[in-house]
Parts: sequence; C-alpha cells; structure tokens
Amino acid sequence: MPDVKGKKKVGILISGRGSNMEALIKASHRPDCPYQISLVFSNIEDALGLKTAEKAGIKTAFLDHRGHGGRAAYDKKVLAILQEAELDIVVLAGYMRIVTPEFVSAWEGRMLNIHPALLPSFTGLDTHQRALDAGVRWHGCTVHFVTSELDAGPIITQAAVPVFEDDTEDSLSKRVLKEEHRIYAEALEDLAADRLTIKDNRVFHKKG
Ligand code: GRF
Repeated sequence: MPDVKGKKKVGILISGRGSNMEALIKASHRPDCPYQISLVFSNIEDALGLKTAEKAGIKTAFLDHRGHGGRAAYDKKVLAILQEAELDIVVLAGYMRIVTPEFVSAWEGRMLNIHPALLPSFTGLDTHQRALDAGVRWHGCTVHFVTSELDAGPIITQAAVPVFEDDTEDSLSKRVLKEEHRIYAEALEDLAADRLTIKDNRVFHKKG
C-alpha cells in the first residue's frame, strides 16, 4: 500500500486469528482516518491474520521466534524489520510474546496493546475463564500504552460488558471481542491524530 501523505504509518504485530487487526484495517479505509496500516508482522508463519492482511493488500513480514539465541536477539531483529518500514506507531493485537525493555523503549508512547479484561484486574492469560471463576458481574477489555511491565501501561480506554449467569468462556469472550474491535480502532485513531498525552501514568484526551 503506498504511503498517504499526512497519515501515520502503523505496524500491527499478531500471532494468530487477527480479528482486532482486521477491525483496524477496516477502520483505516475511512477516507478521514488519520492512519494507514503499512505492515503486519507475525512470529507465527501460519497465523490466520497474515493471510487476511495479504488479501487486504497489506505488506506482511514473518520471523520465527525460535532459534535466535534468546529474546533480546529476536526482538532486535523484529525491531529492525519495523524500523525498515518507517512506522510511526506499533500495535500489538494478539501478539503472544513478551517484548524486551529495549523494544518497549524504542516505541515509548507509540506502542499500544489490547488486553481482554478490565485492567488492572486479570492481567496475563485465560482472562475470561478467570473472570467467570471469580464471579465478577462486569468484565471487558482495555487498550493501553505498552510499558516494560506486563499489561500495566497507561490506560487509554476501556469497555465493560455484563457477565450473565449462563455465560461460558466462549459466550463471554465473544461479547468482549466485539467491544475490543470498537475501542481499539477508536484508541488508535486518537493516538494517530495526536489527541493523547500521558501525565503521571494517566492518559488525557484532547477534544476534537
Ligand atoms: C484478543 O482477545 C486480544 O485482546 C488478546 O488476544 C486476542 C487476539 O484476538 N490480546 P485476535 O487475534 O485479534 O482475533
């Protein structure tokens, strides 16, 4: 996809299905959207999302995380791929890797993640089952800036969904995922339009 003047260049990192990625691609097609998706990268060769991105005409890249002699060496190579693409913003969307502090600092204030829970509750994996087991009445998702602490960066936005008594992990995750697609596109748009500032670990939204 050729560069469009005035639009921020976004790279999306995925490891699997890529439904959040797809939602961001879809939102980027709006003529007034302040970003374009320039690259989709995966550490998993047969990630479904890579095929979806290719079909959408987006440049893709893959690098297996195994066999590089450790996390630091791997992340350095991924960083080089992203820098080569001259990205403005990096978006983690189901990227199942913990990234190194060096990787985080290269994208400080310019890297987002979506987490399928209302942070700071339920960091880590299996969030939907853990929410059911805890008996919470409300669950949801969070978009946040990435810092070197896992699932703990400044929160940009959240969406809450009710938890019903007959919910299963599957029904609950579907309800949350629908909200993920909506809030991730909104948060990325705010970042790309320079509407976000961080102060004392809190995010402030400029209106307009
Ligand atoms: C989403 O639930 C996201 O919140 C989490 O991983 C899942 C990825 O799903 N980080 P998809 O690949 O975007 O469909």
